[in-house]
Amino acid sequence: MLTNDTLAQWDRENFFHPSTHLAQHARGETQTRVIKTASGVYIEDRDGTKMLDAFAGLYCVNVGYGRQEIAEAIADQARELAYYHSYVGHGTEASITLSKMILDRAPANMSKVYFGQSGSDANETNIKLIWYYNNILGRPEKKKIISRWRGYHGSGLMTGSLTGLELFHNKFDLPLSQVIHTEAPYYFRRDDLDQSEAEFVAHCVAKLEAQIEEEGADTIAAFIGEPVLGTGGLVPPPTGYWAAIQAVLKKHDILLIADEVVTGFGRLGTMFGSEHYGMEPDIITIAKGLTSAYAPLSGSIISEKMWKVLEQGTDENGAIGHGWTYSAHPIGAAAGVANLKLIDDLNLIENAGTVGAYLQQSLREALAAHPNVGDVRGEGMLCAVEFVKDKDSRTYFDASDKVGPTISATLLAQDKVIARAMPQGDILGFAPPFCLTRKEADTVVAATLRAVTTVLG
Ligand SMILES: Cc1ncc(COP(=O)(O)O)c(C=O)c1O
Repeated sequence: MLTNDTLAQWDRENFFHPSTHLAQHARGETQTRVIKTASGVYIEDRDGTKMLDAFAGLYCVNVGYGRQEIAEAIADQARELAYYHSYVGHGTEASITLSKMILDRAPANMSKVYFGQSGSDANETNIKLIWYYNNILGRPEKKKIISRWRGYHGSGLMTGSLTGLELFHNKFDLPLSQVIHTEAPYYFRRDDLDQSEAEFVAHCVAKLEAQIEEEGADTIAAFIGEPVLGTGGLVPPPTGYWAAIQAVLKKHDILLIADEVVTGFGRLGTMFGSEHYGMEPDIITIAKGLTSAYAPLSGSIISEKMWKVLEQGTDENGAIGHGWTYSAHPIGAAAGVANLKLIDDLNLIENAGTVGAYLQQSLREALAAHPNVGDVRGEGMLCAVEFVKDKDSRTYFDASDKVGPTISATLLAQDKVIARAMPQGDILGFAPPFCLTRKEADTVVAATLRAVTTVLG
């Protein structure tokens, strides 16, 4: 096939890219990257450049690229039935089977799954259902949602508000007034460096208690959090954090949403992050790893406790006024069924745990002694290297120095390895597909060391 030489121009003239500097891109100051094909952990652009994708797209291609089993399942579904809706009790073999497969893997107190298309719309659904729940229970004042600074929950109106990154608020008139942000459980970046991990957890809990006290527990409906902070910096919680937070939530009858869009279906080496940290959520948000991004699909897994109230609500008010045209889209559902089966058949969750631990350990051995490496951290197939200007005084580079983005760009230019410069702080993120081998992990680590040395000496 002839290469279309006008693609870059068409791109600049027609394509509104998410999370992109619009003006620079339109002026041609940033590159158009056209990805053409992919297999395993490698993607390839249309010029034939092969890159090791150590971030699995946007930490979503969990089973790796080019899985024919999933492609076939999608094609078979499209041929047999590309679409039918799921309103008023309709379903397809794929969507019903997938809901059973999800519940079989979810914590025992979970009851039903509602399907959407993206992590953002799933979290929008969650907040609506929680508001509905409290209205049915006769407590219309209990509506505010607590989220964490540096949490990431999407970029819609409510979900962009829940997201605790200022870039997602500024100039968008967000956050909405119903959202309260609390301390991020980010021990490395604590204000008081003398604090022990346990003291820092106590500090996060005291902060939360004070906010609940100030707002009034009877106005607060839910707390939302990722088991491991993702886009905000890839930060596993300090020991004991979730147990201590949950004790406060239970005391004040505040629901817990575990946003497992990144951690669901194996990234931490366990089926769910909730299980990994002993969380007992009322709702679990799922997306990315549900289909490994072979088709868009998300879900809200609802606990039995909430489900009972939703049932009561429809007995009192009629059918629930919530739904998307593409809820439980059969093609997404077929991809989900094939994906979850593949994860089991290839034992990929165990691989995510063991090779992820190897990757993190190897990054630590290669980089921890570097004067500008402040922290190497992670859990399962999710790791981060955080850069500092000075280790002893724990000072950070200025954002305008673009240290993180420069290291990421150098890594790609020198060795064709993709790691993500996380948006807030000089943090290089790794979230490879679960099928990563030790040899591929070695390639990632050697290339990262080379990039860090090139940029920082
Ligand atoms: C934890 C978490 N929740 C929600 C979302 C939003 O998902 P989406 O981009 O599919 O809307 C993301 C996306 O990265 C995420 O990481």
